[in-house]
Amino acid sequence: MFWKKKSLKELLPSPVKAEHGEYSMILSARDKPAVLTPHLLHASLKAIEYAAAVDLGEIGTRNEQARIYGNLWPGEHYRLLAGLMLALQPKIVIEIGTSTGLSALCLKRYLPPDGKLVTFDIVPWRQYHDTLFRNEDFDEKLVQYVADLSVESKMRQYDELLQNAGLIFIDATHDGDLEKRILENFKKINFKNKVFFILDDIRVWTMIKMWREISLPKIDLTSFGHWSGTGLVEFC
Ligand SMILES: C[S@@+](CC[C@H](N)C(=O)[O-])C[C@H]1O[C@@H](n2cnc3c(N)ncnc32)[C@H](O)[C@@H]1O
Repeated sequence: MFWKKKSLKELLPSPVKAEHGEYSMILSARDKPAVLTPHLLHASLKAIEYAAAVDLGEIGTRNEQARIYGNLWPGEHYRLLAGLMLALQPKIVIEIGTSTGLSALCLKRYLPPDGKLVTFDIVPWRQYHDTLFRNEDFDEKLVQYVADLSVESKMRQYDELLQNAGLIFIDATHDGDLEKRILENFKKINFKNKVFFILDDIRVWTMIKMWREISLPKIDLTSFGHWSGTGLVEFC
């Protein structure tokens, strides 16, 4: 019968065919510890509208990875990132997890005129042989720091920068622990403005507990972001 309880073993391998699979689960909203605020709802709706309209085709000319994934929407998060930039107009944007630079290039492109993107990784961008970055991408609007902000003493070195952040995008290990530690650390920052967090992969098995436990206004924007989960949190 369709609804007969199946063991995990019976479900393996994946019951559907897909390009990429991750274990996940669905949960009722009844025990949700956070509520949607009008501000968060408005920001989300505006960002989705912008995401539908933007075209990241120019970034797609950098390489095959950027061409395939950059403009793929819904499904990938790049256009939603652009939409959030346009909706929120953050002056200082922090990215945790630079990698080959696709998200950083999208965020940079939609910075307000006086905006700045600071992207953090534990691996310098030049060590990625397939990086999308060119030397000239790094200027007064984009900088990379090699540091792990999940370590409080490291985070404190960037205290002044972080205090001025308006949007923080976490796209790093997706193990749920790193994200939890980063969020805990950031609770100690004296933010000067309203701050939103974007969290990648919130529907991936290892991330579910962390996402459910965030007791701040939040919304799951997966249908308009990354297929593996995109969450938006109104942090303060
Ligand atoms: C999924 S990739 C990021 C993808 C990128 N944001 C994009 O969309 O183009 C994850 C990156 O997180 C980095 N990373 C892992 N642990 C980290 C940490 N503690 N702090 C900062 N970056 C970390 C990895 O080195 C890797 O480059």
